[in-house]
Amino acid sequence: MPSTAHGTAARTRLTLAGALASLLVAAGVAGGPAARAHEGPAHAKPRTTLADLAQRHGRYFGSATDNPELTDTAYTKTLGDEFDMITPGNGMKWYATEPRQGVFDFTAGDEIVGLARAHHQKIRAHTLVWHSQLPDWLTARTWTADELRAVLKNHIQTEVRHYRGKVYSWDVVNEAFNEDGTYRETVFYKTLGPGYIADALRWAHEADPRAKLYLNDYNIEAVGPKSDAYYALAKELKARHVPLDGIGLQAHLALQYGYPTTLEDNLRRFSRLGLDTALTEVDVRMLLPATEEKLAQQADWYRDLTDACLDVRRCVGITVWDYTDKYSWIPAFFPGEGAALPWDEQLAPKPAYFAIRDALR
Ligand code: G3I
Repeated sequence: MPSTAHGTAARTRLTLAGALASLLVAAGVAGGPAARAHEGPAHAKPRTTLADLAQRHGRYFGSATDNPELTDTAYTKTLGDEFDMITPGNGMKWYATEPRQGVFDFTAGDEIVGLARAHHQKIRAHTLVWHSQLPDWLTARTWTADELRAVLKNHIQTEVRHYRGKVYSWDVVNEAFNEDGTYRETVFYKTLGPGYIADALRWAHEADPRAKLYLNDYNIEAVGPKSDAYYALAKELKARHVPLDGIGLQAHLALQYGYPTTLEDNLRRFSRLGLDTALTEVDVRMLLPATEEKLAQQADWYRDLTDACLDVRRCVGITVWDYTDKYSWIPAFFPGEGAALPWDEQLAPKPAYFAIRDALR
């Protein structure tokens, strides 16, 4: 991040604001008088968490996490306290779980599942079929349809069986469509045709009939060509009794591109198909440096997307794509952007955190 005088001053202000917010949280006064009445004095009872507040609406509030961060005890404390749903950010992906063909390694995912269980948290498992983060053995050669079908089925069923009974849901297929609503030309699509999606859902269902099965993607928060493609596919899959339970809207938002104002309508149309929806990878990035104005706008967006989920009965919960700017994927992928999460790099809650609490209250 470029360190300009303005950037440094803004960061100092933000750090002070964050420190004050932390003190308020520690003192149990974070949520204002209404919250205090419920939460009591700090020494008597821990304050309510995002998970507690979400549960009052029959929803969950989750965070992604990743294995390297788990040695940071200040980080894992809030991860364990504040959320009731956890998504492994990388540990259950194909490159991690089947690094050599037919040789499975569930170490990374197991570590996160173990930690989550110790904190009575559920798992949104992520992800079985994705064009990205595939192992070299799979991408380095061509496959016949029969070969790839067998590889895919074995991967899905071995992994889903391993986690059977331990996960709430699976992102079975991730990011299957292009922005214009055409199928993404992945190795799976090109080799197997669009039927790979229904097959993947059926194989996953066979391996764990109780896990909720999702299709998951980004830029499908608003009504538009890409979410229309999901709507059409979901309708068709439901008509054919393919085991699909929900659509995951990743919700990687950016202040400079505008809020998806049709989010609620979009969630509602999937509900009407008899599907759950979830906001699965929420972050709201901004051009750095973060200013008070941008953080206030970001807070409004977090409030609005939380409201949208609460207003649609089958929107089952919200997951942030990690909870602190310290471990956000954004700065590495979008240079010059960041500050996307509800907690800052010092693990202090930001205005967005308080806005989520307001919406959940
Ligand atoms: O494992 C290597 C490590 O050995 C190496 O030293 C290090 C050096 O760069 O890289 C490590 O791999 C990184 C990997 O995360 C694990 O930390 C990759 O470089 C990095 O590109 C990868 O990024 C992940 C990204 O998916 C890949 O597309 C992010 O952490 C992860 O948060 C992100 O998650 C995705 C969701 O799965 C799907 N939706 C979009 C979302 C954000 O991109």
